[in-house]
Amino acid sequence: MLNMVFEKNLSRTMGVHLSSGVTMSRLFSPLTIRSTTFSNRAWISPMCQYSAIDGVVGQWHLVHLGGFAIGGAGLVMAEATAVTPEGRISIGCPGLWNDEQVDAWRTVTDFVHSQGTKVGVQLAHAGRKASTMLPWSDHPMAGLDEGGWETVGPSAIPFPGYPTPRALTLDECLELPRQFAEAALRAIDAGFDVLEIHAAHGYLLHEFLSPLSNHRDDAYGGSFENRSRLLVAVAVAVRAVCGETPLFVRISATDWSEGGWGIDEAVQLAVLLREVGVDLIDTSSGGNVPASIPVGPGYQVPFAQRIGEESGIATSAVGMITSGEQAEAIMDDQHVVAVMVARAAMRNPHWPLQAAHELGDAVEWRPQLERGRWAPKG
Ligand SMILES: Cc1cc2nc3c(=O)[nH]c(=O)nc-3n(C[C@H](O)[C@H](O)[C@H](O)COP(=O)(O)O)c2cc1C
Repeated sequence: MLNMVFEKNLSRTMGVHLSSGVTMSRLFSPLTIRSTTFSNRAWISPMCQYSAIDGVVGQWHLVHLGGFAIGGAGLVMAEATAVTPEGRISIGCPGLWNDEQVDAWRTVTDFVHSQGTKVGVQLAHAGRKASTMLPWSDHPMAGLDEGGWETVGPSAIPFPGYPTPRALTLDECLELPRQFAEAALRAIDAGFDVLEIHAAHGYLLHEFLSPLSNHRDDAYGGSFENRSRLLVAVAVAVRAVCGETPLFVRISATDWSEGGWGIDEAVQLAVLLREVGVDLIDTSSGGNVPASIPVGPGYQVPFAQRIGEESGIATSAVGMITSGEQAEAIMDDQHVVAVMVARAAMRNPHWPLQAAHELGDAVEWRPQLERGRWAPKG
């Protein structure tokens, strides 16, 4: 039922009429980006698991991500995955810089595909917030003798509590887009359907965007155009190698800090990214500097709406989205085409099935789970 072609006769109150005559919520109607069709718009947000060995994913990742596929998500986005060894957040983060990593990821993507679900990967470089131990280790930073490394950033300005990074050289800035493009090719080889460039949460590309972490006086610092240059170059390089694969960029819409990166520049950036072939802005916030953030249900949704409305690009919303009704209401905005759910899906990997039940949608369940299906509402 979920593989029906999406018909654009939307009704705000009635949901979406599929060609079968069935009416679905917007949340559980299919979505096509380029030539990729997602069975619904209840997507799983990337979540670091700190469980890779030398950047190679294993059984934990298969069960973690595979569980979301069984749970009915339209897209499962794998966690921040480093394009180089130094791009990992922790010594346990995965990568896509060698063939062993590609083969390990393929086990995950094969399983997710077997459940009729699309799977994406977040290509990342952690910049100055890198070289950590696992969150549950007894100390935060990994020393060189523990597999750690010298961190890099736009400028030699540390994130509070982290070591001072080395400022990337001009040559290294020129090299970074090629490193993302090579990882993108490996991701496609590994079977991923969607690529997402991680430019949020205070990691390297966000560090370049924000005047609080970028004090460079060359072509990569200063003006908005210069601070955006590296991310735009990365997006161009990835789009050049990824063909028709949907390309998303996760950004922080604001640093939540005076003098920092903010929503006006985020809108301008979205226009630049749309022009170079990015398909969707996955809209998050914060992470580049300590800040007081007014966290609450759907608190980042207005950023996704504004970026979509003012730049014309599709967006996804994330952040404290916990119920089917809440997610469906977010779909009222024509630019917000999907929701990303993290912690609610951690608590219940079958969150999409639960949301569909709340909305009264008779979505397909895996036959093995059928006996657990709720009786239809009403
Ligand atoms: C354990 C954990 C790991 C996360 N790892 C990532 C990550 O790899 N990349 C990313 O962009 N966001 C990451 N996030 C942020 C989530 O994707 C999401 O944006 C955030 O948790 C807000 O959504 P929620 O309220 O649904 O949890 C992580 C969140 C959690 C809880």
